[in-house]
Amino acid sequence: MKNIDNIIKNDKKYFLSTTRGDYKFVADVGENEFVFDVNGKKLIDFSSFISVYNLGVNGNYQIRKGIKDQVDKLMHAAFTDYYAELPIEFAAKLLEFMPKNHGRMFLSNSGTEANEAAIKFSKIFTKRQYTIAFYNGFHGRTHGSLSLTSSRYIHRQHFGPFPNVVHVPFAYCYRCPFNLEYPGCGLACVDHIRKYPLSKEVPPKEVASIFFEPIQGEGGYIVPPKDYFKELKSVADDIGALMVSDEVQSGFMRTGKFLALDNFGIEADIYSMAKAIGGGLPLGVTVVKKSLGDIPSGAHASTFGGNLLSVRAGIESLNYMKKNKRALINSIKKKGNYIIKRLNDMKERYSIVGDVRGIGLMIGVELVLDRKTKEPATKQRNTIIKEAFDRGLLLLPAGESTTILYLSFISLSLFII
Ligand SMILES: Cc1ncc(COP(=O)(O)O)c(C=O)c1O
Repeated sequence: MKNIDNIIKNDKKYFLSTTRGDYKFVADVGENEFVFDVNGKKLIDFSSFISVYNLGVNGNYQIRKGIKDQVDKLMHAAFTDYYAELPIEFAAKLLEFMPKNHGRMFLSNSGTEANEAAIKFSKIFTKRQYTIAFYNGFHGRTHGSLSLTSSRYIHRQHFGPFPNVVHVPFAYCYRCPFNLEYPGCGLACVDHIRKYPLSKEVPPKEVASIFFEPIQGEGGYIVPPKDYFKELKSVADDIGALMVSDEVQSGFMRTGKFLALDNFGIEADIYSMAKAIGGGLPLGVTVVKKSLGDIPSGAHASTFGGNLLSVRAGIESLNYMKKNKRALINSIKKKGNYIIKRLNDMKERYSIVGDVRGIGLMIGVELVLDRKTKEPATKQRNTIIKEAFDRGLLLLPAGESTTILYLSFISLSLFII
């Protein structure tokens, strides 16, 4: 038996405690819906390892075989300076899943980098300097994307000053910042953007983009109303700003559609993706609308962007998705509906369940101490996650009191009992 406490002690010795907390999970091996810790403890994964293993823990056989084959050929091809065929194949395959007007992309290694590129590209395309972003949004931790992130101030403390960003309330209807109710509110949160920031704080002609997550992830699995993004787009259109959709967590079929924004009936000008698109390897992608034009050579780059192992894993993930698209969509819908129903049954029985929300397999449960005051049940949420872990189920927290489940597409057969 390995001593888990010792492993954690050594971790603390060598690594700055930037994130890992009291969750005593030391991963060893995994496949499909299961993962085993270093002592062989078997767990069911409902976390997709932070939204990465959409196709099952450790990818699947095709992804792994693709990576292994590529290792013996060439791993890094200096895609900043030389050409290679694999990134081209990846791009062509990805575009089959993107809206028709989207034609070109930039490759990097993470979500935050995909967003850095999206921020910079919006600025260079529009020759404007401001970004409108949302409270509870999470876009990454490098300086540019951190300037948009606003889900918890610990992410930002001591790191300012930041580039020009204006934060506005998101459509968090369960805790409406205006104390109104949808649809009677008439989407007052969108109106607010016109009335305040755009009238009193930033000249509309200086706004490069409205930057959002279609479903806010880290901030608490917040799903806006169906017509929200149409209204937001009308603000962007009126002021000539671009719409940027951060699909790093919500994309790659997580919601049953390739892009989460597709659930809301509009298209963005720029999409950023990462996490699941690399099938378990680091891959960030920023895709732009053809009509936006080009980025001058030298204006942006990343040494490992287009890494051959990552794009090979990306190609295999997309191949799998294309081949099994219909079955995947059906299964995501069926499993998602089943979970939402079961969680709503729990809501009937347990007053701590304040809200159940999600689309497809991107599902969150917000816990409250009191349904009237909606006081967050943060401690209880953390206890539930720990208890679930002790009993063999991996879950994750988000926001103040939301427990989240982002299940890999193939894992849930186990849940349906
Ligand atoms: C919506 C969203 N954008 C960006 C990021 C940052 O991605 P990364 O950690 O790969 O930089 C995350 C990470 O959780 C995310 O959820």
